[in-house]
Amino acid sequence: MSDQIRKRKADHLSICLKKDVECKSVTTGLEYVYIVHNALPEIDLDDVDTSSDFFGHKLSFPLLFDSITGGSKEAKQVNQIVAEVAKEKGLGMFLGSIRPALDDPNILDSYTIARDTAPDIFIGLNVGAPQLSRGLDIDRLKSILNDIKANALSIHLNPLQESVQFEGEPFFRSVLERIRFLVKNLNVPIIVKEVGCGISREVATKLELSGVSAINVAGLGGTNWATVESIRSKMLGNDFKAELGDLFSSWGIPTSISIIECVQSVKIPIIASGGIRSGLDMFKAMVLGARYCSIALPVLRASKSSQELSLLADKFLAGFKTAMFLSGCKSVNDIKSVRYYLGPQLKGLLAR
Ligand SMILES: Cc1cc2nc3c(=O)[nH]c(=O)nc-3n(C[C@H](O)[C@H](O)[C@H](O)COP(=O)(O)O)c2cc1C
Repeated sequence: MSDQIRKRKADHLSICLKKDVECKSVTTGLEYVYIVHNALPEIDLDDVDTSSDFFGHKLSFPLLFDSITGGSKEAKQVNQIVAEVAKEKGLGMFLGSIRPALDDPNILDSYTIARDTAPDIFIGLNVGAPQLSRGLDIDRLKSILNDIKANALSIHLNPLQESVQFEGEPFFRSVLERIRFLVKNLNVPIIVKEVGCGISREVATKLELSGVSAINVAGLGGTNWATVESIRSKMLGNDFKAELGDLFSSWGIPTSISIIECVQSVKIPIIASGGIRSGLDMFKAMVLGARYCSIALPVLRASKSSQELSLLADKFLAGFKTAMFLSGCKSVNDIKSVRYYLGPQLKGLLAR
């Protein structure tokens, strides 16, 4: 069983590194958010303070490296580089699903490496809804949280991915009840995320009522898991599943719309993700009301070296800071007051 999970995780890494896995038919919609330019910002660029607070951790700007991997030698290297750069740049990170380590304690070092590398940064642990549905050993989870000194637990909801995956586990019975149980029984904040299909206002409301501390929308427009699983099924010779994955490659709520749905329905912080590809995307997502942003695929692709990932973080910061300056924002708190227009394409897409 654990060999099969490890092989799947390795396939995910190599497919995401080598193939075109980003959503092609639908975009995030952030290109249809037009910011009202401020020609008279009355501050210097240097006056702009991009810093932000994330569950008691100071971030140099509101960006998090999102869940990618864990459970193998390659994963250990990725997690080490990501932690190194998060530390250097004053950012936070989420580890990939802890699932492989629930079955095999020998691979825990591919996760603990992040904490060993960066003792003080924000680190979130990650687990999937199907594991919650089928009974997760809470004592084992608590012990891993403790080993990693994790600052939060993020739970991924991925019903599409599980439905189209070669050996998927589309088990979502009782997940909300288990989330409530974890909220009561763990002493870290719980963050719930999608993986690329977005969170609707109905789901956001249920999550807030369950006591969840933040929602990460992970909307449509970035890494597309129906496509990733379709490519993998084709590699494994299962054309039936591959075709099913292709059929659903446009399914989901575009990131911009998911942000709007969530900020209009709940008060807990919203993290924007799913196709955030620049500091300007970050800024637009935050103008729509998100408090933080996270990225996964660009991090994986830059994680060959800490220099490359460091440069990526610098580019995001430069874009974000410039957009703040051009909108007259001195602090990240000012972003929510920036005026914007929605292009007709986005207005037309907004669900009833
Ligand atoms: C190689 C890879 C592995 C991932 N593994 C996980 C995971 O274990 N748990 C999870 O919640 N999300 C996982 N994700 C999803 C990301 O955290 C993120 O929600 C999604 O990729 C959308 O962001 P992006 O468009 O910036 O990649 C993974 C993403 C990538 C690229």
